[in-house]
Amino acid sequence: MTDTITIRRPDDWHVHLRDGDMLERVAPYTARQFARAIIMPNLAPPVTSVEQAAAYRDRIIAAAGPNFTPLMTAYLTDQADPHDLARGLADGVWVAAKLYPAGATTNSASGVTDIANIRPALARMEKIGMPLLVHGEATDPEVDVFDREAMFIDHILTGLIADFPALKIVFEHITTRQAAQFVADAPATVAATITPQHLHLSRNALFDGGLRPHAYCLPVLKREEHRLAVRAAATSGSPKYFLGTDSAPHARDAKESACGCAGIFNAPFALESYASVFDEEGALDKFEGFAAEHGPRFYGLPLNQGSVTLHRAPNQVPDAIGDLIPFHAGQALGWRLA
Ligand code: DOR
Ligand code: ZN
Repeated sequence: MTDTITIRRPDDWHVHLRDGDMLERVAPYTARQFARAIIMPNLAPPVTSVEQAAAYRDRIIAAAGPNFTPLMTAYLTDQADPHDLARGLADGVWVAAKLYPAGATTNSASGVTDIANIRPALARMEKIGMPLLVHGEATDPEVDVFDREAMFIDHILTGLIADFPALKIVFEHITTRQAAQFVADAPATVAATITPQHLHLSRNALFDGGLRPHAYCLPVLKREEHRLAVRAAATSGSPKYFLGTDSAPHARDAKESACGCAGIFNAPFALESYASVFDEEGALDKFEGFAAEHGPRFYGLPLNQGSVTLHRAPNQVPDAIGDLIPFHAGQALGWRLA
């Protein structure tokens, strides 16, 4: 049995670090585990301009310390300006742009109401090699919440890929068999991130003896068959799948509420959580690719120098970290980051 694994320093290709006090509290957890992270722009107000992103990047560096590189993303709105996207990419501020369908999730009200509105932006991104990151859920309220990802594939994503064949697309936080299969069959321009919660939990976790707000995230957890398909994808060794925690902290009272916020705060034990999945699947040899190689290769960024080591050892996750409830709260993980 393998009791120690050492991998190249990994990155988190999808994280919410928030701002202000919350940023100061959560950024050190991400910086402790990861060299770089793709920073989600869904602040209130959203990060839509190059100047806002540059200022936010400075605040993140101040909170996270010098050993961590935030990779900034533009929040696409109906008014997305192709010229601004190109300028921010050329200036080294933007790394990618995020498509939130309006109303899909937290702070997505300023998101895109109709893909037709961002066609000029997408055409420019395709030309300049700027990746599009998508929250892949249909927003029509008629669509069943558990079907939103599959509907997005049929109604939006398939057309996007046909219309912009050279555009790099990351299908963020995939949760279904359909999404895993779609990405496997798609051209090499299409990849996906996978969260720890969608590897560990099926939707039963939402109702385990009562309503469980700390298991609520978007896209919502799915049936067991989908969890198994996403696990198989993550641990397959395919370069199309890589690590993106979607760590999304909300204060306890905002989660434990009559209308609780979506998001799981998994940053403190993210690598340990993923490692336990790869271990259970007998795929520890595939962990380095998923955590440290597939992402940078897709984005066209250098691989990190240096390494991190995980040991097989009981690792008790606290019940709470201040007013934040971490993923796996109160449980013991079987791996520990050295
Ligand atoms: O669960 C989620 N939380 N999913 C998202 O798409 C957004 C995130 C957040 O910002 O809280
Ligand atoms: Zn997210």
